[in-house]
Amino acid sequence: MPNARIAGMGMYVPDNVVTNDDMTKLVDTTDEWIRERSGIHERRFINEECGASDLALEATKIALEKANMSADEIDFIIFATLSPDYNFPGSGVLLQDKLGLGKIGALDVRNQCSGFIYGLSVANAYIRAGIYKNILLVGAEVHSTGVDFSEEGRHIAVLFGDGAGAAIISATDEERGVLSTHLHANGAKSMELCLINPGSRKIPRYYDGIWDDGTLYPQMNGREVFKHAVTLFPKVIKEALETNGFTTEDINLLVPHQANMRITEAVAQRLKLRPDQYFSNIHKYGNTTAASIPIALYEAIEEGRVKDGDLVILAAFGSGFTWASAAIRW
Ligand code: ACO
Repeated sequence: MPNARIAGMGMYVPDNVVTNDDMTKLVDTTDEWIRERSGIHERRFINEECGASDLALEATKIALEKANMSADEIDFIIFATLSPDYNFPGSGVLLQDKLGLGKIGALDVRNQCSGFIYGLSVANAYIRAGIYKNILLVGAEVHSTGVDFSEEGRHIAVLFGDGAGAAIISATDEERGVLSTHLHANGAKSMELCLINPGSRKIPRYYDGIWDDGTLYPQMNGREVFKHAVTLFPKVIKEALETNGFTTEDINLLVPHQANMRITEAVAQRLKLRPDQYFSNIHKYGNTTAASIPIALYEAIEEGRVKDGDLVILAAFGSGFTWASAAIRW
């Protein structure tokens, strides 16, 4: 049975840097409020019309180059996003077309912040089953055009940024790659972090008042998210370690979903991790949801923080609630 390894990674963020001071022109906030609560200094916003698939294309080009591979070697696409170009079809088929990949399958994953790890678990299963050899897995988001910059939405608007990350997951006979994935969800908490409309529950779907009741923008119970994140992140990381007979001492690098620096620090503290054992770049990009793990992993590799043979742990928590982890022998 082959193993599934990450053969190359790429990332792309728009050029437009929006600092916290720039944010004060869009929303009633301060640099101090944002930094203290989230660790974010700046994020990227698109400044021309484009969708998640456009950002994903740029990240994919770099991932292919790093994997030393051409696009026509990809035999399946998995696209994780909560901000698809259109309600339907999914962004996966748009990316497939942009890459000129004719008839290969494209699967969209709707697991928000956990989307990249959910996608990785699918890629791992397909590769281990011998169905595909080179899977393109992307996480890409355009948040900036979909958040509420009014007082009701400002606690959310300041946290998110646009960007994309891509990974080529390839079959290998070597003793390396994905060791395990663990996926969890608790739909009872679905309304704690959600974007309700336009949704299929309403008749008519576009009802009078839809513009005024806030349901066209993301809604978040920040304290509930924080409380669950700081307990479920450590739990799912320990699950990954225990399944493979490791302890926290064995972690070379934890790359968590970049939700909020306070969450990452609380998780690291609970697991008693040294600063060199975890990675954060939220100060530069804010929270890019499904794109945050591949963007962070790409930068960690580029900074020389991931070496052959290292134990890399990926972990995520987010809307759903969903949470997940992956253990990778690099
Ligand atoms: N700028 C300035 N003031 C603000 C802002 C803002 N952007 N947003 C809210 N405030 C004000 C509120 O109006 C309130 O004012 P008041 O005390 O006069 O009523 C005050 O700040 C506190 O508001 P809260 O919403 O209670 O803010 P809290 O201290 O809980 O912090 C936050 C909000 C940062 C979202 C916090 O709950 C948190 O860290 N939650 C974790 C959620 C998270 O990080 N989610 C990331 C996305 S989800 C994911 O990826 C898992």
